[in-house]
Amino acid sequence: MRISVYGAGYVGLVSACCLAKLGHHVVCADIDEQKVEKLQKGECPIYEEQLPDLLQEQLETNRLLFTNDLNLAIQNANAHFIATGTPSLPDGSADLSQVFAVVARIAREANTEGVLITKSTVPVGTGDQIQALVRDELSRCNKNITLHVASNPEFLREGTAVNDFLNANRIVIGGEDQALHLLRSIYQPLIEKGIPVLSMSRRSAELSKYAANAFLACKVSFINYISQLAEEFDANIDDIREGMSLDFRIGPHFLQAGVGYGGSCFPKDVLALIQLAKSQGIDAKMLEATEEINRGQKNWAFKRVFQHFEGRLAGLIIGVWGLAFKPGTDDLREASSLVTIKALEEAQVELRLFDPVAGRAARQLFQGKETLTCCESAEAVLDKKVDALIIITEWPEFKNFPLERLKEKLGTAPLFDGRNCFGLTQVAQAQLAHYYSVGRPVVREFAAFRSSSGCQ
Ligand SMILES: NC(=O)c1ccc[n+]([C@@H]2O[C@H](COP(=O)([O-])OP(=O)(O)OC[C@H]3O[C@@H](n4cnc5c(N)ncnc54)[C@H](O)[C@@H]3O)[C@@H](O)[C@H]2O)c1
Repeated sequence: MRISVYGAGYVGLVSACCLAKLGHHVVCADIDEQKVEKLQKGECPIYEEQLPDLLQEQLETNRLLFTNDLNLAIQNANAHFIATGTPSLPDGSADLSQVFAVVARIAREANTEGVLITKSTVPVGTGDQIQALVRDELSRCNKNITLHVASNPEFLREGTAVNDFLNANRIVIGGEDQALHLLRSIYQPLIEKGIPVLSMSRRSAELSKYAANAFLACKVSFINYISQLAEEFDANIDDIREGMSLDFRIGPHFLQAGVGYGGSCFPKDVLALIQLAKSQGIDAKMLEATEEINRGQKNWAFKRVFQHFEGRLAGLIIGVWGLAFKPGTDDLREASSLVTIKALEEAQVELRLFDPVAGRAARQLFQGKETLTCCESAEAVLDKKVDALIIITEWPEFKNFPLERLKEKLGTAPLFDGRNCFGLTQVAQAQLAHYYSVGRPVVREFAAFRSSSGCQ
């Protein structure tokens, strides 16, 4: 089939490459000229496992083309996947201007019947607004063609996006029969692999995506809330998590205490759902609490550092391992690292930063800031004597960093582990001077020495 994808960001790019892999002819249009130029040369603008190879492979088949010419994309296809951004407006609601700009353009330029499919995460009822916009544009241009509107929310996760698309645990589609029929034929190769397709109303499909993200965000905030209690009562969140997660009704996923969720989806989708609920006069306390707990949790590292140094932070040198909002991506959007860095900068701390893949994005973001140094490796952060080290992203190379070496490098400097990368026994054995982690007792070299020598 001939398909067009609008937006070549994390979702659009992955979708375009994967749809080409399924055998379709795909034109992917984006307004960002530099991005398109890179993509057409086979250069992947984002860090995403499997994507560079898939991009090369599909460009070579000539089934995949990137362009700035939206008209070319519109004329190419009768299935139009919209994957542009839906960032937050100042009040938290979703900014749909990119989506509507594409819709209006398609309605103005299309010459044949087709289906407009929203892959972007959009509030319930957006499909209806799109339908109305299409109707207005078609009548304004005196066109007698039909453009259907369907919803096909995307559930991929950054870091495993290609695999998530090609081996999705479900495909959700919403709309009228004709549109759903077209979507089923597009996904036929995946349906044949046994991936379930859930057909529903367009509004239910739109709400499914927000419901899934909000639920996961709630889970993260819930365990972080319990971790706050654990810290106060000297309990251990690892044990509590195990105590909870072996109950099959709860399960272990998204129950890892840490410095909060970030990225381009959970924060903005929770905010958008709050606004959506309020627009209907429905109370949003549960979602507001989720958001508020997360906002507080992103300050965990700064608060602990502040307490440890009794507020005397000016002039300290602090290392930060991990900048991306999670491992496996170079995405810094809403990353907890940014909150920690900003607070430490304001406290006049000199920072030495490292992330295995988000370094380039960080250099761009922090350009011209003299008190921030982006280092080339985790070890290089510690080449200059630091007063403390903070871990914000649980990259495997940090988790596997030998603790004896860390002890050697840190000396008496404390380690603030915002992702609980190390076991407490391991830390005690390595005799780190001070080890702070989320929802677990603080480990101190002195305390470890006292207990091992039998002193009280
Ligand atoms: N990132 C994720 O993990 C993820 C997962 C599932 C769903 N989503 C949703 O998918 C949507 C896209 O997210 P993303 O992370 O890919 O965004 P993104 O910001 O990475 O990409 C959006 C792209 O759209 C392009 N664009 C903007 N206006 C355009 C126009 N008029 N015509 C063509 N291109 C245009 C931008 O240049 C950009 O490249 C959002 O609604 C998001 O919530 C994202």
